[in-house]
This record gives sequence, structure tokens and C-alpha cells, in this order.
Amino acid sequence: MTHAIPKLGLGTYGRTGDAGTAAMLAAIEIGYRHLDTAQSYDTERQVGEAVRRSGLARNEIFVTTKVADTRLDTAQFMDSVERSLDTIGLGPVDLLLIHWPVKDEVVPFEDYMLALADAQRRGFTRLIGVSNFPIALLQRTAALLGPDAIATNQVEIHPFLQARRLVAHARSVGLPLTAYQPLAKGEVAGDPVLNRIAGRHGVTASAVALAFLMAEGHIVIPASSSEANLRANFRALDVRLDDADMAAIRALDRGYRRIDPAKSPAWDD
Ligand SMILES: NC(=O)c1ccc[n+]([C@@H]2O[C@H](COP(=O)([O-])OP(=O)(O)OC[C@H]3O[C@@H](n4cnc5c(N)ncnc54)[C@H](OP(=O)(O)O)[C@@H]3O)[C@@H](O)[C@H]2O)c1
Repeated sequence: MTHAIPKLGLGTYGRTGDAGTAAMLAAIEIGYRHLDTAQSYDTERQVGEAVRRSGLARNEIFVTTKVADTRLDTAQFMDSVERSLDTIGLGPVDLLLIHWPVKDEVVPFEDYMLALADAQRRGFTRLIGVSNFPIALLQRTAALLGPDAIATNQVEIHPFLQARRLVAHARSVGLPLTAYQPLAKGEVAGDPVLNRIAGRHGVTASAVALAFLMAEGHIVIPASSSEANLRANFRALDVRLDDADMAAIRALDRGYRRIDPAKSPAWDD
């Protein structure tokens, strides 16, 4: 699995400390084979510990981390990557992302994107990618590093924010998107349309939301500390939605963006 990103991963934001490690181990036991961390989450150590304790071979699990937007300048970039690798303790990661682009080019775009490619060349990561990039920055990335340089753009996508312009662009260039907050932080669980479809399929509304996003071609990284929810979410891999289900869920899009800090780029949707 060294080059494919598993379609269903585990988000680890907020899953700190021993409870975080326990949740990750429970997820691995259930079958999750993709863990998403970041320098800013304080979960890199837990990810490494969970993988080591699971007994899985390193190439059986996919690990992503992200360079924080405060460490993208040339003086800090590569040291921060080496520190991440030390903290995780599993050797090279599978995927290294730029967590957020730098607003107003306070750090020049070319500097940190070339540093990212350099991190890959040095063997710190098998794949490289970006996060929170709008179309304009994806186009600049392709111009700078080549059309196939990045493996994904990780962005907020869930049934209530389907990011249609970005999705259309990504499809047109063959770039997989990774949907973060795919459960809209748990809000999908209360949606009546998703619950009606879930009832027919014998799963939860969250599993339907994840199945929908994967059917749209996205990778998903839901988070949970509850074994029951981890298990329920993993069932998304078995759900086959029909055309009517897909149309009903597409109609839930209402441009509801949950993550929109001041450092955000100009979004496309
Ligand atoms: N690149 C970025 O800038 C960025 C930004 C945000 C997030 N992310 C990544 O995306 C991951 C996922 O996002 P997220 O963790 O913020 O939100 P999320 O996965 O959309 O939702 C997680 C929340 O949903 C609840 N939940 C999970 N399964 C459920 C179920 N079956 N039924 C009801 N509630 C359920 C969880 O509570 P319980 O623990 O009680 O189950 C938790 O509160 C993060 O962990 C992180 O790795 C990346």
C-alpha cells in the first residue's frame, strides 16, 4: 500500500494522551489502516505508539502528518519535518502535507512548496500533498512541481459543504481530495435524510455520510474516541448507495463551512 492512500482513515485531532493512543489502537483493531496527524495536533507521538503496539508491519499502515503554517519558512521547515519523524518514530511517513498555505505570501509560496518536494527527495516521506488549498494554489503547485507531484488536497468536505467548484477542478486534473471533518464534527448524525437512508441500509447516518463521500471519489478521515462509533463508521466501506440516495445527499449541500480561521485563503465555493 505504499502509494495508494486508503480511502477510509482515522482523524486524530484532539485524541491526545493515553486515551488518544487507546482510541487509535481500537481503530487499528477494527481495521483502520490510515492515521492522520499533524505537528499542531499533539498526536504524532500517539500515532507512532499505536502503530508500534499494534504489531502491524510498517507497510501495512498509512501515516500522514502536516507541517504547521508557523514552520513553513526555510529556517524551520526541514528541522520541523525531522522532529516530526523523531516524534512519530516510524521512519519516513507515507504522506507529508502543507497544513495551510501562508496568507499574503508572508513566506513565499515557492519556498515552502520546493521545501516540501525536497523533503520527499530526501526520503522523509513517500508522498507529498497539501491541505486547505484553493484552485488557484493547486494550479500554481502544478506549474511549480509538475502535474502529478501531489497525492491529495485535504479540505473540509461533508454532506453540508460539498465544495463543488473545487471538486470539479480536482476531478478534471485527477487529484484525489481528502475530506476532513467528514461528519461535520458529528452533526451528520442528526440529519433526517441521512437517517432515513441509513435505516434502509441498516447502518448509521455517519456511515452513510462517509459512504457518500467515498462514492464521490474522496478519501475520508473521520475521528472518534468511541469504539462503537469507530466500528459504526468503518461500516461505511460496505454501504452501496443507489442513485436516489446519492441525489438526496447531494441536495443537502448548503455551503456550511465550519473551519474558516482568519488565515484561510479565498475559498472557491
Ligand atoms: N487539514 C486540516 O486543516 C484539518 C482540519 C480539521 C480536521 N482535520 C482532520 O480531520 C479529522 C476529522 O475531523 P474532526 O475530528 O474535526 O471531525 P469529524 O471527524 O467530522 O467528527 C468528529 C466528531 O464526531 C463524533 N462522531 C464520530 N463518529 C460518530 C458517530 N458514528 N455518531 C455520532 N457522532 C460521531 C466524534 O465524537 P466521539 O469521539 O464521541 O465519537 C467527534 O466529536 C481530524 O481529526 C483531523 O485529523 C484536518
